[in-house]
Amino acid sequence: MEKTKVAIIGLGTVGSGVARLLLDHGDRTARHAGRILWLEKAVVRDLAKPRDCELPESVTLTDDIEAVIADPEIKVVAQLIGGLEPARTIMLKLLESGKDIVTANKALLAEHGAELFDRARELGRSIAFEASVAGGIPIIANVSQCLSANQITSLHGILNGTSNFILSKMHEDGASYEEVLPEAQRLGYAEADPAMDVDGSDAAQKLAILAHLAFGARVHWKDIPRTGIDTLDLADVRYAEEMGYKIKLLAVADLVDAGLELHVSPTLVRAGSPLAEVGGPMNAVRVDGDAVGRVMFYGPGAGQMPTASAVVADLIDTAVGRTELTFKTLELWSDRQARVASSDY
Ligand code: NDP
Ligand code: HSE
Repeated sequence: MEKTKVAIIGLGTVGSGVARLLLDHGDRTARHAGRILWLEKAVVRDLAKPRDCELPESVTLTDDIEAVIADPEIKVVAQLIGGLEPARTIMLKLLESGKDIVTANKALLAEHGAELFDRARELGRSIAFEASVAGGIPIIANVSQCLSANQITSLHGILNGTSNFILSKMHEDGASYEEVLPEAQRLGYAEADPAMDVDGSDAAQKLAILAHLAFGARVHWKDIPRTGIDTLDLADVRYAEEMGYKIKLLAVADLVDAGLELHVSPTLVRAGSPLAEVGGPMNAVRVDGDAVGRVMFYGPGAGQMPTASAVVADLIDTAVGRTELTFKTLELWSDRQARVASSDY
C-alpha cells in the first residue's frame, strides 16, 4: 500500500496521542485514507523528557526542526506546539518547503490565521484545524460544510474544557477554583500557561475562529469582550444554585440588526437546560440556522485522545486531499467586518 510520510512537531499531551493513534491503529488510517500514514519523525524541545507514548526505532525523535522542514519525503506535518512563536515561523517554513499542515493551535490561528492561510493559498498548500476548537467535537467541519445551506443566526458554546471542568467541580464538590486548577493541568486539559484558559482568552480565540466560519466575520479575538472564571468564587456558585442556575463560561455570537454581537463571560444558565448539564471537560456548541433550526454538538473539548482523534482525522483528510472544502469556505468570505458589541445572555 502507498505511504504518506508524516511528522509530528510537539510530542506533549496532544502530540503523544496522535503518535499513539498513528502507531497503534495504522489499520484505521489505512482503511480511511487508502494509504499508510507513516510516522517518520517527531520533534520535541527536550529529548531527555519522558514521553506518554513509545516510539519504535523506525520513528526518528529529534530536537531539530530543520530535520523535518528539509525532508522532501515528509508531505504532511502535525504542528502541535502551543503559543505564537516559534509556532508561526515554523508553520511558514513548513508551507514554504511544500508541506501541508494540521494544527490544534487556536491561539496561533486566532492571531496569525490570515497571514498563514494567505501564504498557504499562495503556495497551494493546506492548513487543517479541526482540533483547534472544541477538541474532539467535529465543529469546524459541521459549521463550515454541513450547515453551509443556512444563514447561521446564533452560536452559543462552552468552548473551554478547563473552565468547564473547574466550574463543574465547584458546583458538584464545593471545591474552590484554586484547588481544581492543578487537577485540570495534571489531566492535560489546561494550556501550558493556564491564564488563557481561565481569563476567557482561549474561548474568545475559538469564538473568533467559529465566527469567521459561521458568519464570515473577521474579528480579532482581543476585540471580543471577555470575562473569565478567574473572577468567580464559591459564593457565586452557591448563589447561582440557590436561584436555580448553574454558572457556565459561555462564548456567544448572535446575529442582531446592529451586526454580530460577540462576548465570552460566566453566565447564569437555568439548571436542567442542555448547556447547564454539560459537565467536566466537555464542550457543547448550540447553533441556530434559518433552515435547520437548532442543532447542538456535545463532546470532549480537551484532553489527549479526543484532541488526537480530530488531528488524525485531519491528517487522513489532508493525505487524500479532502481539506479543500474548509479552505474554500475561508476563501469565499470577504473581509466583511463584524460589528462587535457586548450583550447579556
Ligand atoms: P504540551 O505543552 O503538552 O506539548 C507541547 C509540545 O511541544 C511538547 O512536546 C514540547 O516539547 C513541544 N515544543 C514546544 N516548543 C517547542 C519547540 N520550540 N521546538 C520543538 N518542540 C517544542 O501542549 P499540548 O499538547 O497540550 O497542546 C499542543 C497544542 O494543542 C496547543 O496549541 C494547544 O492549545 C492545543 N490543544 C490542546 C488541547 C489539550 O487538551 N491539551 C486540546 C486542543 C488543542 P517538550 O515535550 O520537549 O517540552
Ligand atoms: N486548554 C483548552 C481547554 C484545550 O481547556 O479547552 C482545548 O482547546
